[in-house]
Amino acid sequence: MKKVIAIDGPAGAGKSTLAKRVAQRLGYIYIDTGAMYRSVAWKVLQTFGSDNFTDEDIAAAAYNLTVALTYENGSQRIAVDGVDVSEAIRTPAVTSVVSRVAAIGQVREKMVDLQKKMAADGGVIMDGRDIASKVLPNADVKIFLTASIEERANRRYKELREKGFAVDLTKLQEEIAARDKADSEREESPLVQVPEAILLDTTNMNLNEAEAAIVKLVE
Ligand code: DC
Repeated sequence: MKKVIAIDGPAGAGKSTLAKRVAQRLGYIYIDTGAMYRSVAWKVLQTFGSDNFTDEDIAAAAYNLTVALTYENGSQRIAVDGVDVSEAIRTPAVTSVVSRVAAIGQVREKMVDLQKKMAADGGVIMDGRDIASKVLPNADVKIFLTASIEERANRRYKELREKGFAVDLTKLQEEIAARDKADSEREESPLVQVPEAILLDTTNMNLNEAEAAIVKLVE
């Protein structure tokens, strides 16, 4: 029987990389909920420019857009109003506003509703910040994935450099810390480790080790 797996954790803990690998290995569908909040942030930036918008503008943008997840050779693509934004949502500009966007109640309401529907048939591995606490409280397996802030910043640094972005490691670490703080202290569904979640600290694990640890938990 295929299960429902919830993975939560702070930015850069390796959630999406690992969830994708485990999904492929076990034949599950991977749902990246951060990409959904990033899509709303992308739309807000497209519509209003860098910082010229109110919380009401953000809520309206979320209300009026359609987000569609599709799968191509096992990897997730995401489209906003029919436009493929899979790469565009990973830019530093989107990252810098996404925590603000994700803190707004109406945005979360719409995304959580979509996420619950996507997981309704099971066989799903979903990652985010509020998956075990809010989206899938009845998930069969709940994992809280984390790593030290230094290690998470290092991983993001390498990832962004590989994509050709010029980034500064110290600044990146500060940005990640600020995003963790915003995501953990917001009123609406903050990032929390629910009591029943299993803590997996990947600071000293490579990808294969972390993948094996998750597969073991699922099986
Ligand atoms: O995992 P990520 O970096 O792609 O997530 C982008 C932002 O979206 C992150 O700052 C927190 C927010 N987020 C959220 O509030 N709830 C989720 N379920 C997933 C992401």
